This record gives sequence, structure tokens and C-alpha cells, in this order.
Amino acid sequence: MGKTAPSSTNAGKKRLKTPVKKTAKRGAAAKISQSAAANLKISKSAPRPETVRPVVSASPPFFVHPTAVVDPGVEIGSGTKIWHFSHVQTGARIGKNCVLGQNVNIAENATVGNFVKIQNNVSVYSGVILEDYVFCGPSMVFTNVIVPRSKYPQHGASYYRTTRVKEGASLGANSTIVCGNTIGRFAFVGAGAVVTKEVPDFALVVGNPARLIGWLSEAGEKLKFDTDGFASCPRSGRRYRLGNGRVRDVTDEG
Ligand SMILES: CC(C)(COP(=O)(O)OP(=O)(O)OC[C@H]1O[C@@H](n2cnc3c(N)ncnc32)[C@H](O)[C@@H]1OP(=O)(O)O)[C@@H](O)C(=O)NCCC(=O)NCCS
Repeated sequence: MGKTAPSSTNAGKKRLKTPVKKTAKRGAAAKISQSAAANLKISKSAPRPETVRPVVSASPPFFVHPTAVVDPGVEIGSGTKIWHFSHVQTGARIGKNCVLGQNVNIAENATVGNFVKIQNNVSVYSGVILEDYVFCGPSMVFTNVIVPRSKYPQHGASYYRTTRVKEGASLGANSTIVCGNTIGRFAFVGAGAVVTKEVPDFALVVGNPARLIGWLSEAGEKLKFDTDGFASCPRSGRRYRLGNGRVRDVTDEG
């Protein structure tokens, strides 16, 4: 497993005393550089002097709750909210208008797109890429090392298998994504499922190991295909085509 967020109740309490700083930039993603972080005052009581909370702002470009920890050298987009006891580690990139719930960890160099929602108790490890509009249910689990052994540590990008979650996909509460797999666009992983292989676009998978039980539209409606392999979403009217075990959005194909 890659680095995880340090968590200590006492440490969290001490961090509350760290001075609050505001940034002013609106618009594009704000970068917290090493040099900017170095200019900030850090409370002498701070337990980890290398970790500061350089930006705490209730107004644009983004919001970080005072109990959250944002390390230097991260990018956070405008409108993003980072809630209680969460931790964003150096090199992480988070897009705009995301919501990170309580106790969320974005590890070094992990990538989070725009409009992503991450519910409580989720760690997005190095090697994980979340595209725009991904939904991570509460306490779902990513992994990044395929055969971890404490006695034979595997730290560093060369050990990590990439997990990509494509645009609009939803990962149900308490699901687990075994690393090295791709979750397709607008796919849906049911609560508690264990994903061990690629999940196609628009697929609905459940169980352990996760199995395909149907197809959902972009808006999350069940797709019922006619004998020619076409289905319409009752909510959005978008049209889909099933062929060769794959579903495509054919709305714009006339
Ligand atoms: C997968 C899911 C979307 C299916 O919802 P649904 O379409 O209303 O489900 P249905 O009740 O029609 O279930 C269809 C079948 O799949 C089974 N099933 C549904 N969800 C399942 C799951 N998570 N794991 C295993 N089986 C599941 C049902 O038991 C049913 O089986 P049956 O046909 O043998 O009776 C939903 O069950 C789910 O897991 N949602 C995730 C909720 C979540 O995590 N939210 C997070 C934000 S709070």
C-alpha cells in the first residue's frame, strides 16, 4: 500500500491552533508552492513542522476546514471543499468544484478531476486517477500494490498499478477496487462489490468478485435494450446501443 494519512486525535487538536491564512486568487487552480508554504507562520506547537495548512478560506477559490491538512506543493481548483480531518499530500492535484468529505486522504501525486465527490473515509492512493464527475461512496477502498508484504516494502511509483476511474463513474459504499483496473465511463459499482477486472462503460456490477448485472445510463437509469440493441434513458432521453458486450452513447450519431 502507498502512503496513508497520518491520523492522531491529539495531533488534530493541536493543528487547530495553527494560524489561519487566506488566499485571494479566484479562477484557475491555485498552487501551493514550497516557497509560499515556507513564508507562512507555523505554530510552535505544531506536531509536524514540515506539514502546514497554508490555505484556509471560506470563500473562493476553495475551502479547507481548519482540521484538514494540506501539504505544500498541491493543486486545488476553485470551488472545491475539503472537510474535517482530511489530508491532501504533496503532489496531489484536485480539480474544481470537488467535495472531499470527512477523513479523506489524497495521497502523493494522486489525481482528482473536476466535480468529483468523495464521501467520508476514502483514501485515494498514489496511482489512482479520478476523472471528472466521479463519485466515491463512503468507506470505499482503493489499492495500489497488488501483492503487499510488510517485510518486503514496495514504496514508489514503479510498484504502483494504475487505477483509472473514468468520467461520471460511481463507486458504491464499501466497495473495493483491486489496483490495475479501469472503471469505465458512467459505470456503477454496487455497494460492497470487489472489482477485480475492467468494468465497461455504463456497466452495473455487484458482488465479490464484481459481476455485470445490467447497464445504467449517464443519469443512472436502468437501460432496457430492444431486440435491435437500442435503449433510451427515461430521464434524459439519451440513446444507447449495446453490441459486442459494450454500450455506447449514440445520441449524437443521428
Ligand atoms: C447496485 C444498486 C445501484 C442496484 O440498485 P437497484 O437497481 O435498485 O437494485 P435491485 O434491487 O433492482 O437489485 C437487483 C439485484 O441485484 C442485487 N443487488 C443490488 N445491489 C447489490 C449489491 N450492492 N451487492 C450485491 N447484490 C446487489 C439485488 O439483491 C437484486 O438481486 P435479485 O435479482 O437476485 O433479487 C444498489 O443496490 C447499490 O448498491 N447502490 C449503491 C448505494 C451506495 O453505495 N450509495 C452511496 C451513497 S450513500
